[in-house]
Amino acid sequence: MNSDKQIEKIRQFSYKKMVTDRTGHNFDHIERVVKMATRLSNEEHTDKLITIGAAYLHDVADDKLVADPTALEVEIKDFLKQIELSEEQITEIMYITHNLSFSKSLSKNPPELSLAGQVVQDSDRLDAIGAIGITRAIYYGGVNAETIYDPSIKPREKMNKTEYRNLDNETIINHFYEKLLKLTSMMNTPTAKRIALHRQQFMYEFLNEFKSEWLSEI
Ligand code: ADP
Ligand code: NI
Repeated sequence: MNSDKQIEKIRQFSYKKMVTDRTGHNFDHIERVVKMATRLSNEEHTDKLITIGAAYLHDVADDKLVADPTALEVEIKDFLKQIELSEEQITEIMYITHNLSFSKSLSKNPPELSLAGQVVQDSDRLDAIGAIGITRAIYYGGVNAETIYDPSIKPREKMNKTEYRNLDNETIINHFYEKLLKLTSMMNTPTAKRIALHRQQFMYEFLNEFKSEWLSEI
């Protein structure tokens, strides 16, 4: 099977797994990440099958979306074997999808990613910021019944993964300070950094406007 055919099969597999998601990780998120990963992959000259394959699969076995991520990782590996990827290619894709998430980067020793992995990570992070990122944060907050804003609750400075996932004292606006506004400086590739700066500016404008309205200043 040639690599275009393999990528098409991976796309179909990802679609089946993600189409029912209602937490803001729906297939449209996956398609935007793939589109950005294609653009960054062309600039960084990373392997297409690895980069695009990992982009399609990056949320399929996410521990906040599925009850048994390990079982799904086994299923993904079997599927990749079926469509004739080599052991090496499978290992590389699985390493990327297993290690790219923001919550992983909160750990003491954040995993190191290959350039292809960095491209997918940047693409995923770019989709969490700017106008789309704002929309996704509000959507996620709605799904999880988060408070919109409460000036008496301060953003958490240092969090581990469990704290990050604990939404008891979380607000949608605090999520911007706890994560979204940190992503620009965490971008790996120069193009992603440039796009992130633009999107970050827009988030600052949104937050200023939001707080002014909250205080009835405008
Ligand atoms: P990752 O999959 O990289 O670990 P997350 O699961 O943290 O990323 O985030 C997935 C999406 O949900 C992002 O768009 C993110 O901004 C949003 N999100 C995550 N946690 C919150 C939260 N507490 N409030 C609002 N949005 C959130
Ligand atoms: Ni994602």
